[in-house]
Amino acid sequence: MKKNPTLFLLFAFWLLAKTALIAQNEKTTILKNIDKKWWKEATVYQIYPRSFKDSDGDGVGDLKGIISKLDYIKSLGIDAVWLNPIYTSPNDDNGYDISDYREIMKDFGTMEDFDLLLKEMHKRDIKLIMDLVVNHSSDEHEWFKQSRSSRDNKYRDYYHWWPAEKGKPTYRWSFFDVNSEAWKYDAQTDAYYLHYFSQKQPDLNWENPKVRQEVYDIMRFWLNKGIDGFRMDAFQFASKDTSWPELPKGYEKNIIKYYGVGPHLHEYLQEMNREVFSKYDIMTVSEGAGSSPEDAIQFVDPDRKELDMAYHFESVDIGNHVKDFGLAKYKQIFSRYDETFKEKGWLSIFLANHDQPRMVSKFGNDTPQFRAVSSKMLSTFVMTMRGTPYNFNGDEIGMVNIRFDNIEDYNDVDTRNKYEQLKNAGGDLKAFLENKKQTSRENGRTPFQWDATANGGFTTGKPWLKVNPNFTEINAAAQEKDPNSVLNYYRKLVKIRKASPVLQYGKYTLLDHDNPNVFAYTRELDGKKVVVLLNFTDKEAAFDLGFSTKNTTLILGNYPSTKSFKSNTLRPYESLILELK
Ligand code: NOJ
Repeated sequence: MKKNPTLFLLFAFWLLAKTALIAQNEKTTILKNIDKKWWKEATVYQIYPRSFKDSDGDGVGDLKGIISKLDYIKSLGIDAVWLNPIYTSPNDDNGYDISDYREIMKDFGTMEDFDLLLKEMHKRDIKLIMDLVVNHSSDEHEWFKQSRSSRDNKYRDYYHWWPAEKGKPTYRWSFFDVNSEAWKYDAQTDAYYLHYFSQKQPDLNWENPKVRQEVYDIMRFWLNKGIDGFRMDAFQFASKDTSWPELPKGYEKNIIKYYGVGPHLHEYLQEMNREVFSKYDIMTVSEGAGSSPEDAIQFVDPDRKELDMAYHFESVDIGNHVKDFGLAKYKQIFSRYDETFKEKGWLSIFLANHDQPRMVSKFGNDTPQFRAVSSKMLSTFVMTMRGTPYNFNGDEIGMVNIRFDNIEDYNDVDTRNKYEQLKNAGGDLKAFLENKKQTSRENGRTPFQWDATANGGFTTGKPWLKVNPNFTEINAAAQEKDPNSVLNYYRKLVKIRKASPVLQYGKYTLLDHDNPNVFAYTRELDGKKVVVLLNFTDKEAAFDLGFSTKNTTLILGNYPSTKSFKSNTLRPYESLILELK
């Protein structure tokens, strides 16, 4: 058959147009398929109120202190603040033992201060996420006082009790108890009550519908004030198998498997969502979400109508230092979770919080030579990985572990009680203290270092916890003036993520899989591709992406001179965000 050139050309043109149309349609489908939410686009800034800023010289941070720093917070570019608990509390566990859910802790101020804080935050377009601590209350909460007063008190079933005449209850391990015993004998009614955390933190009985309704009321109280969401403390532990079965010996080594995701947990979350969350435009995040990505997705699969965002512990429970656990494992955890969450559900990305040592001391290098550069590299990771980034206050200026020498320096119930336990057992206390220099969560709680004046400008009084003496060099005021500071770099990162749907929603792909030194990945959306390169070591490190970085433009690098970005090596702790052309 003779070929007709006109027909052939027409056919070719039609084919081209059709392909372009399909591509265009796919593009729109990709965009349309994105379940956009403000909290997915947001950057969250966590404030530990006790240590942030003291306004009245009593050595304890307070709400007025936070108000006085709102312009600083706004200057970071962040969208939401997660505030650790500020409710009335005897402070056995720094506010995680609440004795009145509707009042502000005296140390922190008054309800008027709170209302003003919320108003001033909203004025600046900053949302407020409150900590909701309802796996347990304080033993000084009225409910518990009533509950323990007699066996037939109407609040008795607000908590878990075991009558002593039935013998000792089955062993339950406690996170904070000096003897690791979660059942505490109470002579008043000759019974044991359950406390997964300290003795002053009795577990609420979620199996009791009245308890659930009380909590929903508390939630409404704060939501009606206009807050923007909750971080659900330890909530994965709320539902318990109240037949108290025997658990295998040593189960505490795998505690989340045994305590997390109790028999009715998801029912309660769905009920909570129906009764409360669904009525407000808020963000809800669960602290802990089982022990695997498959568990975690159950909390936040939008079809299940439970919570919005999960944060899991695997990436912080990984070990004490990158050089011990290795980058490969770290990459594997994030990639594995991302794989499960790539279609639906949403994760938080964080490397530190008030329960962790300082980010740079654990995942980076806090020596003077590398502290700044590795802090920047780590923040680059947090801000470019898929999920909502969380920054713990102080990490944006590269604060480091204080490394206390003496147990007396610690205030933390966890560290102190574990020390006590070891002492009773005749263990190696010196080794314990040495280990805590790297691992204690109190390292992350030292007062914020605002400037080089006394106590780092945190308080005019005696700080409740020692200020890191390095505040003379590491402080916000000094970094304000330096365009290359950790602080100003952090601001750039926040801005970049905010302006980039690719970084907010784009698909994540790990590159150079087995590289033990460099974490490399792409983020991709709608034909746009960003490459992120992170050297987690103090040496030069080579990478192999399988393509050249020659065709890229630099979005941000953490070294002042970025001349090396087109090579295939990174300088120590170097990070690069590149756009692929
Ligand atoms: C998790 C909190 O983040 C931690 O600080 C607290 O000690 C426990 N839950 C108990 O509430």
